[in-house]
Amino acid sequence: MKIKTISAIIAIIILPNIHTMAQNTLADATKGKFLFGVAVNMQQVNGVNPKESELIAKEFNAIVAENCMKPQLIHPEENRYEWADADKVVAFGEKNKQVVTGHCLIWHSQIAKWFFVDDSGKDVTPEVLKERMRQHIYTIVGRYKGRIKGWDVVNEAFEDNGTYRNSKFYRILGKDFIKYAFQFAHEADPDAELYYNDYNVETPAKCEAIAELVKELKAAGVRIDAVGSQAHMQMDSPTLDATETSFKKLKAAGVKILITEWDISILPNPYSGANISVNFKYSPEMDPYRVAVPDSVQQKWNKRVLDMFGLFLKYSDVVDRVTVWGLNDAVSWLNNFPIRGRKDYPVLFDRNNQPKSVVDEMIKMAKKI
Ligand code: G3I
Repeated sequence: MKIKTISAIIAIIILPNIHTMAQNTLADATKGKFLFGVAVNMQQVNGVNPKESELIAKEFNAIVAENCMKPQLIHPEENRYEWADADKVVAFGEKNKQVVTGHCLIWHSQIAKWFFVDDSGKDVTPEVLKERMRQHIYTIVGRYKGRIKGWDVVNEAFEDNGTYRNSKFYRILGKDFIKYAFQFAHEADPDAELYYNDYNVETPAKCEAIAELVKELKAAGVRIDAVGSQAHMQMDSPTLDATETSFKKLKAAGVKILITEWDISILPNPYSGANISVNFKYSPEMDPYRVAVPDSVQQKWNKRVLDMFGLFLKYSDVVDRVTVWGLNDAVSWLNNFPIRGRKDYPVLFDRNNQPKSVVDEMIKMAKKI
């Protein structure tokens, strides 16, 4: 056979499988179904590693700041806001023609102490806290009015058993703090979408409580567009069934669904009950893939990704966005949580910024539907 013919055959077999050469991205493949986004850190926004910044620009059509818009960072003192990083994130998204969303306005965690206390250190009255929330939300949402598509207005207000988290917001204002937050956000930017965001949304009692909240807000005439399911997943939980059940429940409550912080840890899971705010001690048995991930485990992870992604596609009438929590395995928060210093492989690009093989399969899957 002539060399030309052999090269042609090789090209026919190999080319469609080479992600970069085919110029296919997940953002392209999912167009018309949902946005495909990524959480960005400041090194990436600042171009410290240009390869990462380019990859974010090329592969995703939505971004969210992983940290810099959280209350503690953007509003560290009552009369001080730190805008520099958040401004850069919004400008970075605009430069790349990406949809930018805001994370997050009201969260019990990553919020400075001043928010809840007076000069003598005592808890403030409900009126004072409500007014602080109003100022906080008006100022932040107002600054980015028209530039941010939607906000995670309240983050993680429920326990997994469906009760309200006993946060300072809840203790001082009762459950109405959620309603106030949504009202203030809507007043500050009437065109912005508003989201309630939480983890373990697949847990039946929690999902029920969130669906109930959605109904209550709607009945009170308060805008809520979507529920964000963080979707921090493990190899064995949540099940596909539980995830689908949660989608059905939220869809029935009349909101869109966002997959806001998707990752799938490949490592052994130290918690039963999956409370993601607990830390555990390091041990080598809990960190088995320091050198490499065995093929059988990798295949299992790939299947899990494809199963979940297939579900997102199946519900693309209500799933508006899928955002991965971190560009590559190296920057993922899961290397340090719930055990510090492990080596996890939870997202779609590897430590050399190469797409994992599953990415091409996802692209094919998205294009078929
Ligand atoms: O930037 C400082 C650095 O200067 C310092 O030396 C270092 C020492 O620990 O800390 C660095 O800040 C860390 C920051 O991440 C940036 O890496 C904080 O300690 C650390 O607490 C923070 O963790 C973030 C965590 O939220 C807490 O806000 C993770 O990056 C971020 O991925 C994670 O994201 C949350 C979502 O917002 C809500 N849903 C759960 C999700 C995972 O916990």
